[in-house]
Amino acid sequence: MASIKLFILCFTLLCSVLNARPAPYVMRISCGARHDIRTPPTNTLWYKDFAYTGGIPTNGSQPSFISPRLSTVRYFPLSEGPNNCYNIQRVPHGHFAVRIFFGSVSEPSFDNEPLFDISVEGTLVYSLPSGWSNHDDEQAYAEVLTFLEDGTASLCFHSTGHGDPAILAIEIMQVDKRAYYFGPEYGQGTILRTHSRLSCGDPRPKFDVDYKVERWGGDRFWNSITTFGQNADRAISTSKNITKASNPPNYYPEALYQTAITSTDDQPILECIMDVEPNKNYSIWLHFAEIDPSVTKDGQRVFNILINGDTVFHDVDIVKMAGGINSALVLNATVPVSGRTLTITIETTKGSHAIINAIEVFEVIMSESQTLRDEVRALQKLKSALGLPLRFGWNGDPCVPQQHPWSGADCQFDRSTSKWFIDGLGLDNQGLRGFLPDDISKLRNLQSINLSGNSISGPVPASLGSITTLEKLDLSFNFFNGSIPETLGQLTSLRRLELNSNSLSGRVPATLGGRLLHGASFNFTDNAGLCGIPGLPSCGPHLSLGAKIGIGFGVCLAVVLLLTCATCWWKRRQNILRAQKIAAREAPYAKKRTHFSRDVQMTLHHSQEHARTAAENGPSLLAYQLPT
Ligand SMILES: *[C@@H]1O[C@H](CO)[C@@H](O)[C@H](O)[C@H]1NC(C)=O
Ligand SMILES: *[C@@H]1O[C@H](CO)[C@@H](O)[C@H](O)[C@H]1NC(C)=O
Ligand SMILES: *[C@@H]1O[C@H](CO)[C@@H](O)[C@H](O)[C@H]1NC(C)=O
Ligand SMILES: *[C@@H]1O[C@H](CO)[C@@H](O)[C@H](O)[C@H]1NC(C)=O
Ligand SMILES: *[C@@H]1O[C@H](CO)[C@@H](O)[C@H](O)[C@H]1NC(C)=O
Ligand SMILES: *[C@@H]1O[C@H](CO)[C@@H](O)[C@H](O)[C@H]1NC(C)=O
Ligand SMILES: *[C@@H]1O[C@H](CO)[C@@H](O)[C@H](O)[C@H]1NC(C)=O
Repeated sequence: MASIKLFILCFTLLCSVLNARPAPYVMRISCGARHDIRTPPTNTLWYKDFAYTGGIPTNGSQPSFISPRLSTVRYFPLSEGPNNCYNIQRVPHGHFAVRIFFGSVSEPSFDNEPLFDISVEGTLVYSLPSGWSNHDDEQAYAEVLTFLEDGTASLCFHSTGHGDPAILAIEIMQVDKRAYYFGPEYGQGTILRTHSRLSCGDPRPKFDVDYKVERWGGDRFWNSITTFGQNADRAISTSKNITKASNPPNYYPEALYQTAITSTDDQPILECIMDVEPNKNYSIWLHFAEIDPSVTKDGQRVFNILINGDTVFHDVDIVKMAGGINSALVLNATVPVSGRTLTITIETTKGSHAIINAIEVFEVIMSESQTLRDEVRALQKLKSALGLPLRFGWNGDPCVPQQHPWSGADCQFDRSTSKWFIDGLGLDNQGLRGFLPDDISKLRNLQSINLSGNSISGPVPASLGSITTLEKLDLSFNFFNGSIPETLGQLTSLRRLELNSNSLSGRVPATLGGRLLHGASFNFTDNAGLCGIPGLPSCGPHLSLGAKIGIGFGVCLAVVLLLTCATCWWKRRQNILRAQKIAAREAPYAKKRTHFSRDVQMTLHHSQEHARTAAENGPSLLAYQLPT
C-alpha cells in the first residue's frame, strides 16, 4: 500500500513538474518615467524608461481611459530626427504581443494629436489616423503579434510632419508559439496587427488581467459592445462555468463566453459592420458558446457565417462542434478586403436566433526583410565616427520600413538572400567632422561614396581597397592627410576618384596612374604634395629607411670633419702668428726663420704626444695646445 501511495505521489509530482511552464516574459515600460511604477487595479509593474535612443521625457496625459494610469511620456521633436526607436535588449526568442500606448504632452502649446508611423522590427505596422485622439477606445494604442528572434525588440516611431510622436507606454508580452495560428502563411514572415476585439453583450470593457486568465494570453483588451445597432438584438449572459475557454494556444478568458449578443425573433440575422483599411488581408476570429438556456442540444441552432457577403462557414452548430452547451468554440478565417468595410453576418438556417460571444479582427501584415547585420553595424560605426547629426535619423533599420529609410544611405534589395544592402553613401556637404573608420569596408557592396565638402580629417582608410564594387569615390574638399593607400590600386572598377582639396602627400599608387589611360577620371589637385603619376611632379629617388639613416649619418660625419679641419686651421694659424711675434722680438730675420721651423717641429711633436693621451682619455682629441 505504502509503495503504491509513494508511486502515486511521485507520479503527481512528476506530472506537475512536466506541466510547469516557465512564466512568460513580460516587459512593461513607462516612457519618460524615472522610477518603476505600479498601477491599479492589478498592481501591474511598469519599469522606468531605460531603452530609448533619444527624445525628451516630460509630463503627459492619458488620451483614453484604456491607457494605463501613468503620468509621464517621451516625445520625439522633429529636430531630433525623423526616426526614433526603443531597442529593448535581451528579449528571449519567441512569439510576442507588442503594445504601444500613445500619449499626449500635457503642455498647452503642443499639438495633441500627433500623426506618425510605428514600425516593429523594421516593418511598418500602423499609421495613426487623424482623429485618433477623439476615440476613447482601441485607438489609444497599437498592438501586434510578432516573432522576435534576434534578442532585441526594435520599436520605432517615424515622424510624418504632423506633430511630435509621444509615447506613454510599451508592453512586450510573450504568448504561445502557436498563438493565433491562422494557416500556412503564419510564421516569421507575417505580423498580425490587432484591428479590434469585441466582447459581445458585456457592458464593461476589460483587459484579460481583470479576467484572471492564464498569463500566456498577452493581457488583451476587450472592447465592450451590447448591440450591433440593429434594435433587434439583445445582450445575454450566464454565470455558469464555460469549458474549453482557456485552452492553448490562445488562452481566452472564460468570462468572454459568459456574455453574448443574440438576435430577437424579429430578425434572424446578426450583422457586425466595421471600418477597415482597404486592400488588406484580415484574419477574423469568432467566438461562440451556447449560453442561451433555450438551446439544450445540437440541431437546435444552426447558422452560416458570411464575411463581406461570402459564406465562410456553413452550418455551424455550436453545441455539436463544441461538444456541449457552455463550451467554447473558436472559428478563424483569413480574407482579403478590397473596400473600406468589413461585414460579418450570422444567418440562421435552423432555429430562430443568431448568437455571437466575441469577435477579433487582425490585419495580416507581411514583414519586411531587414538589412544585412554587418552593414547596419558598419553604418552605426560610421555614424559615431563622423558625428552624424540627429537630423539624419540613423536609428532602427537603414532600409526598412521602406517609407522611412535613413537619409544618405542608398538601399538595394538582394532577391537571392532576401536582404537589403547599402550600395551608396551620399553625405556630401553636410558639415561632418571626425574621421573615416576602417569599418567602412564592411559595406562590401558600395558602388559610390561621396563625402565631398565636409571637414573630415585623418587618413584615407586602407580598407577602402577591399570594397571591390566601388566605382565612385569622392573625398574632395576635406582635411584628409597622410598618403593615398596602395590598396586603392586594387579597385579595378573605380572610374571616378576625387581626392582634390585635401592635405594628402606622398606617392600616388602606380596602379591608379595606369588606370588613367583607360578613361577613368581622377583629380588629385590642391593637396599638400602628391607625386608619382603623369601630371603630378615626380617623387625623386625612392629611398628605403636604411638609405635615409645612412644619408643622415654621412651628413653628420661630414659636418664633424669640416669642424675638425676648421679648428686645425685656426689653431695652426694662431701658432704661426705667435711664433712670428717671438721671432720678431728676439732675432734678425734669418735666425727668426730657423727658430720658427724648430718651434713648429717642437709643437708638432708635443701635440702628437698629447693627442695620444687624449685619445685614451676621451673625446677632446681635437684640442690643440701650445708648448709651454
Ligand atoms: C511634472 O509634474 C511634476 C508634478 O506633478 C512637476 O514637479 C514637474 O516639474 C513636472 N515636470 C515637467 C517637465 O513639467
Ligand atoms: C484557424 O483556422 C485554420 C484553418 O483555416 C486552422 O488550421 C487553425 O488550426 C485555426 N487556428 C486555431 C488556433 O484554431
Ligand atoms: C466554476 O469554476 C470555478 C473556478 O474557476 C470553481 O470554483 C467553481 O466551483 C466552478 N463552478 C461550477 C458550477 O462548476
Ligand atoms: C493577401 O493574401 C494573398 C494570398 O495569401 C496574397 O497573395 C496577397 O498578396 C495578400 N494581400 C495583401 C495586401 O497582403
Ligand atoms: C559629390 O557631390 C558633389 C556635390 O556635393 C558633386 O558635385 C560631385 O559630383 C559628387 N561626386 C560624385 C563622384 O558624384
Ligand atoms: C594628420 O592630421 C592629424 C591631425 O588632424 C595628425 O594627428 C596626424 O599626425 C596627421 N597625419 C599625417 C600622416 O600627417
Ligand atoms: C580638380 O579639382 C580642382 C579643385 O580642387 C578643380 O579646380 C579642377 O577643375 C578639378 N579638375 C578636374 C579635371 O575636374
